[in-house]
Amino acid sequence: MKKDQLLKLFIEHKNEWLSGNELANKLSISRTMIWKLIRTLKSSGHQIESKKNAGYRYLGSNNFDSVLIKEHLKAPFDIKTFNEIDSTNDYAKKIISQNQIDQPLAIVADEQTNGHGRRGREFYSPKDTGIYMSLVLPISDNDIFDGGLLTTMTAVAVVHGLRKSYPNVDFKLKWVNDVYVNQNKVAGILTESVMDVELMHPSAIIIGIGINLNTQDFPSMNRSVGAISEDHVDKNKVVADIINEFYKLYPDYAKGTFMDDYRQLSMLIGHQVEIETYNNSIQGKVVDFDHHGRLILDDGNEQKAIMTGEVVKVNF
Ligand code: BTN
Repeated sequence: MKKDQLLKLFIEHKNEWLSGNELANKLSISRTMIWKLIRTLKSSGHQIESKKNAGYRYLGSNNFDSVLIKEHLKAPFDIKTFNEIDSTNDYAKKIISQNQIDQPLAIVADEQTNGHGRRGREFYSPKDTGIYMSLVLPISDNDIFDGGLLTTMTAVAVVHGLRKSYPNVDFKLKWVNDVYVNQNKVAGILTESVMDVELMHPSAIIIGIGINLNTQDFPSMNRSVGAISEDHVDKNKVVADIINEFYKLYPDYAKGTFMDDYRQLSMLIGHQVEIETYNNSIQGKVVDFDHHGRLILDDGNEQKAIMTGEVVKVNF
């Protein structure tokens, strides 16, 4: 596509002036066509300056764009971007129900109008201030599949990816898979699977990742949510970094080899907590996490391995 070719040319010459003539010659199209393509690029968030006698200068984009993400991507993922979508997880489910997925895919949006999280909660996803993305992975019936460990591994990969753009931020993990900064939740993960009903095995897995980069004014201030930082980062690169880190850990995730990293990032070890499980509430001290991603809790009498639940209180 000529639009993508033009964008690639701009990326190669970021911040440099390029004349309309030069661009037209390089892409073998007319100057009017160049002008039209630039108008299209600008309308989807690319910042392009124009100056008489100098031409055009590309400054970057505030929006997600597959060409910009692929500039930094090492993992073999297809990328699909949207300025606005209801929910990237819901879109992923639609795609999977209509097509066979052979290659991993990432769906990334600048805004979600119906983002949701665990336990049916809303995930606030305002325009241009966060990353709302779903990784879609085909699962063959021979693959070992462990949804719990995969989600836990994703949390570690998200932190590894974020650290590349925020080297001075102290990221922490709250079991199961929430990312915290300064005791505020800045990112959450929602894993969903699509079943192959005949095989009774998941045919694809959807890992939804929501990150508040510089989101302000959260609607429900009763829960401790926050943003990573006010600093401006290249969010297309952050997406690629997270996918790259995910892809590094993915081949061996079922062995739980990343759990040492998880333990180091945990904000809970050694602390007294209250955990709500599906049918009751337990209190105790967090001792460790095992290689299945289970939380080991000492309730004063014995140690229990807890598979799922929500930490509702932590005594720091
Ligand atoms: C949670 O913290 O409860 C999980 C939040 C997951 C939010 C992400 S944003 C991208 C994807 N699409 C959704 O609707 N939800 C996930």
